[in-house]
Amino acid sequence: MENKKDLSNLFLIGFSGSGKSSVGKSLAKSLSYNFIDTDRIIEIQKGKTIGEIILDNGEDEFRKTETKVLSEIDFSKNNIIATGGGIPTIDKNLSIMQDKGFIIWLEASVDSIFKRLNKSSEIRPLIGSNVKKENIINLFNSRLSVYNVANIKINTNEKDINQIVMEIRKIYGK
Ligand code: S3P
Repeated sequence: MENKKDLSNLFLIGFSGSGKSSVGKSLAKSLSYNFIDTDRIIEIQKGKTIGEIILDNGEDEFRKTETKVLSEIDFSKNNIIATGGGIPTIDKNLSIMQDKGFIIWLEASVDSIFKRLNKSSEIRPLIGSNVKKENIINLFNSRLSVYNVANIKINTNEKDINQIVMEIRKIYGK
């Protein structure tokens, strides 16, 4: 990396289906870092799925919870943090991530995201349960500029989890 900033906290950002959780888990294991998944913390804290939270309380409330969860992370530890796909759309979240660590964008094409989301049984509340490509394209395009704030971007198309983990480790010299 270009500077000597502490590498204790690495944030994974990117669209739903870009592999943040699976890459994050594997990267954390290989570096002996904690693994934090903001969506899973929210679900545990609220005792509901993300879908239920958005349906019951609305997206704005969900976004406030995301910011709270992000700001309560113990950044004195070594953490790999897989973030919900919408986290970088909120300025406060961006400032926290920029201030506390490095941001890695797991970039994927609309086609590979579409394929991955269709394979997965998980319900993505903001995209719809029967994932339509048109919905993905619209949301995807509206997110590109925010994901671009990342310190680095890793293209994940046609790569498996191990390859992506190795690529990140190589970049960070770990
Ligand atoms: C969202 C992505 C989801 C989840 C929520 C909102 C988004 O996380 O946080 O449904 O706005 O893109 P994943 O990116 O892990 O699917």
